[in-house]
Amino acid sequence: MAKDKAVRELEDLPGIGETTAEKLRNAGIDTLEKVATSSPHDLSEISGISVEAAKKAIAVAQESTTINYETGEQIMERRKEIGRITTGSKELDELIGGGVETNGITEAYGKFASGKTQLGFQLCVNVQLPKEKGGLEGGVLFIDTEGTFRPERITEIAQAAKLDPKTVLDNIIVVRATTTEQQILTIERADKLISEKNIKLIVVDSITSLFRSEFLGRGALGERQQKLNLHIHKLQSLSDKYNLAVYITNQVMDNPGILFGDPTTPIGGNVIAHAATTRLYLRKSKEEKRIVRLVDSPSQPEGECIIKVTSEGIKD
Ligand SMILES: Nc1ncnc2c1ncn2[C@@H]1O[C@H](COP(=O)(O)OP(=O)(O)O)[C@@H](O)[C@H]1O
Ligand SMILES: [Mg+2]
Repeated sequence: MAKDKAVRELEDLPGIGETTAEKLRNAGIDTLEKVATSSPHDLSEISGISVEAAKKAIAVAQESTTINYETGEQIMERRKEIGRITTGSKELDELIGGGVETNGITEAYGKFASGKTQLGFQLCVNVQLPKEKGGLEGGVLFIDTEGTFRPERITEIAQAAKLDPKTVLDNIIVVRATTTEQQILTIERADKLISEKNIKLIVVDSITSLFRSEFLGRGALGERQQKLNLHIHKLQSLSDKYNLAVYITNQVMDNPGILFGDPTTPIGGNVIAHAATTRLYLRKSKEEKRIVRLVDSPSQPEGECIIKVTSEGIKD
C-alpha cells in the first residue's frame, strides 16, 4: 500500500483485507475509531490476524482518526464570542453569570403559572436590543407546543422596552407544533432560517409536553427518551454552530417517592438534565413575585433570587 494513500475505511488498514474487514464489521467494529480503540488481542481474536498485525492496524487507525484537541487558551478565546441576553432582572442576570448565554441551553422548569413562558417572551424582546442594552440584535425562532404564544404580551413588553412592537413581532418566527414530529422537524430544518433571519434565540415552550402526551406508559419511555435526546442534541449543535441561545421550558411532575423537601421533579429525566447547560427552577411566591433557583450551571454557584412578572415584563 502506498504510504500516502488516505485511510478511510477498514480495508485501507495494513493487513486487513475484505474478509477480515467483514469479520470485524460483524463484531461491531465498523469504523476506524473503533479499531483505534480496540486492544490488539481482541482484534486478533475477532479477525484471525496475528497480534503483531493487529498492533500495526491499530496504530494506523489511530493516526488516521482525527481528534479535535483544543487548549484551554483556545477555548477561552472562543468563549469571548459568547453573547448574553438580559432577562430584564439584574439579580437574575447576575445569578446566571450575566444573562442567558449563547452556545448553550438554558432550561426553566416549574409548575403552571410559575413564569416560564413570560421569561421566554421577555427574552424574545430583549434579544432584539442592541448589544450595549443587553441584546444580540437578532431574531427569534419560537416553537410553541402548548398554544400559549401571545403577540399581545410581546407588544406590551416591547413597548415597555421602547421598541417598535411591529418590528419586534416581525422578528419572531413562530411555529405552533402539535406533534413531536413537527417539533423535531422544525429544528432539523432550521439551518436556513437561522442564517436568513439572523436568529439569535430559539425558544421551545415546552420541550417535553408533546413527548409526554405522545409516548404514554413505561413501554414507550425508551423510545421517548431516545427521540428527546436526539432533539435536544440537535438544539445544542445549532447553538454551537450559530452562536445562538436556546431557551427551553419544562413542566414538572409530582414525585411521590420524595417524602421530605420539594416533591416536584422536572420531566425528561437525565436526557434533559445533562443537556441543559443552565437549569432554573421557577416557583410562584406572593402576587407577582417568583422565586428563581439556579439548580445547575457550569460556572456559577447555586443560588436564588426573586423576580417580578409584571405587565411590562420581567423586573427585579
Ligand atoms: N399582562 C400581564 N401582566 C402581569 N402579569 C402577567 C401578565 N400576563 C401574565 N402574567 C403573569 O404570568 C403568569 C403566567 O406565567 P407563565 O409564564 O405563562 O406560566 P408558565 O410557567 O405556566 O409558562 C400569570 O399567572 C400572571 O401572574
Ligand atoms: Mg407556559
